[in-house]
Amino acid sequence: MYNKRFIIPGLAILVLIVTFPLWFNAFSKASAVPKPELPPGGEKQCVASIPEMRASHMVMLNEWRDAVLRDEDRVAVTVNGKEYRKGLQMACMQCHSNKEKFCDSCHEYASVKPYCWDCHLTPAVLATKKETH
Ligand code: HEC
Ligand code: HEC
Ligand code: HEC
Repeated sequence: MYNKRFIIPGLAILVLIVTFPLWFNAFSKASAVPKPELPPGGEKQCVASIPEMRASHMVMLNEWRDAVLRDEDRVAVTVNGKEYRKGLQMACMQCHSNKEKFCDSCHEYASVKPYCWDCHLTPAVLATKKETH
């Protein structure tokens, strides 16, 4: 003799328990991998494709620095018809204005600490400077 009323919930609970590692993993991974916050200005495109940016934004920044400092080449990059001068503050941070929620969210996850901000100012720091002066 068995009672139908208990079989279905019983099976449901069993399925949940058996598949626990699967969905637990999915959930914990989803919360661990950062979702960098996209530009608040509503821009839709970066200076290069996303795979390119993910793989080599550090290389691009070095190339830009060399272009600006060694060759005085500040030629603008054009994104969606709008011009940005090559630079960390002058391009990247104009769109990605929240370093903490964008750059840092990934870097903390990847355990990288770019030293750039020893000298370059983040938009947040710039804002406090403007307030106090
Ligand atoms: C010791 C101080 C210092 C550090 C650390 C530093 N920079 Fe700079 N950077 C400068 C100075 C000074 C300039 C020249 C600013 C100018 O001429 O507009 C510059 C210019 C640049 C430029 C070109 C123009 C601009 O203003 O953005 C880029 C791009 C750049 N740096 C990227 C980086 C990156 C990426 C890092 C970290 C990996 C970094 N820098 C770390 C001092 C520094
Ligand atoms: C014109 C505005 C703009 C500028 C300038 C810009 N970005 Fe972006 N960036 C975006 C947008 C919008 C996205 C998301 C695009 C998408 O999801 O298709 C993005 C995506 C990215 C990503 C990938 C994020 C992810 O989710 O994987 C990285 C990394 C990145 N940008 C770094 C930079 C760096 C470094 C610079 C300066 C060299 C820069 N961006 C300049 C607008 C900009
Ligand atoms: C999608 C994730 C992601 C985002 C968003 C992101 N980065 Fe990175 N960044 C990385 C990873 C991962 C590395 C380490 C790559 C490596 O070592 O090969 C890195 C490395 C760097 C480096 C080189 C640091 C070093 O010590 O070698 C610089 C400079 C840098 N990022 C600048 C930026 C700036 C500026 C922004 C925001 C405008 C940004 N990144 C946003 C993932 C990201």
